[in-house]
Amino acid sequence: MSCSLRAATVTDLDALCHLEAICFDGDRFTRRQLAYLLARANAYTLVAYTTPDSEVVGYATLLFRRNSRVTRLYSFCVAPQARGGGVGRALLEALEREARRRDMTCLQLEVRADNRVALGLYRRMGFSVLRWLEDYYVDGCAAWQMRKALDGSTFDERPVVSSGAVGKHARGSC
Ligand SMILES: CC(C)(COP(=O)(O)OP(=O)(O)OC[C@H]1O[C@@H](n2cnc3c(N)ncnc32)[C@H](O)[C@@H]1OP(=O)(O)O)[C@@H](O)C(=O)NCCC(=O)NCCS
Repeated sequence: MSCSLRAATVTDLDALCHLEAICFDGDRFTRRQLAYLLARANAYTLVAYTTPDSEVVGYATLLFRRNSRVTRLYSFCVAPQARGGGVGRALLEALEREARRRDMTCLQLEVRADNRVALGLYRRMGFSVLRWLEDYYVDGCAAWQMRKALDGSTFDERPVVSSGAVGKHARGSC
């Protein structure tokens, strides 16, 4: 299978809804949330599609905050049949390039502590652990908050433990 990447448009809404349904157990973005994400000026979504049949098999979204040079990986998934072939890595690398193009200095994310595949990928791509977030998701799962410098600087890895005060998060980062 050969894949290419492009910026998402509103016409990808059905495909993104389908990816949510097949990639995540339970805690999924609704159609309305995804439509909002695609329309937001401060979000950037890339889709991965197969060639030549143009089936969308993955997507990843960055969120930007006004007056901040830290950008956040908000959502990221690849269809089960397309996994393990480098599509996820290609999406992340392309988002990193876009973040650098926008002068961002840091890419940050949260990942479920039980998501070994994603954690491994982030590690290999140079992300460091910033914080352990106890009881972070609605189902009680903890999260690792991770970050990667985009400007060549390095971070000390001395994770802080946060519990209680961070509240409960539905999925969305990431
Ligand atoms: C995480 C995810 C996006 C990775 O997508 P992918 O297209 O399989 O990623 P890649 O093919 O680029 O593989 C990434 C790495 O993980 C490894 N990998 C992939 N699937 C694996 C598996 N089931 N078990 C162990 N390692 C695996 C690959 O060998 C690769 O290693 P490398 O970086 O050394 O080459 C995908 O597994 C997914 O959609 N998972 C469900 C949704 C999710 O967890 N999203 C992330 C939320 S934070």
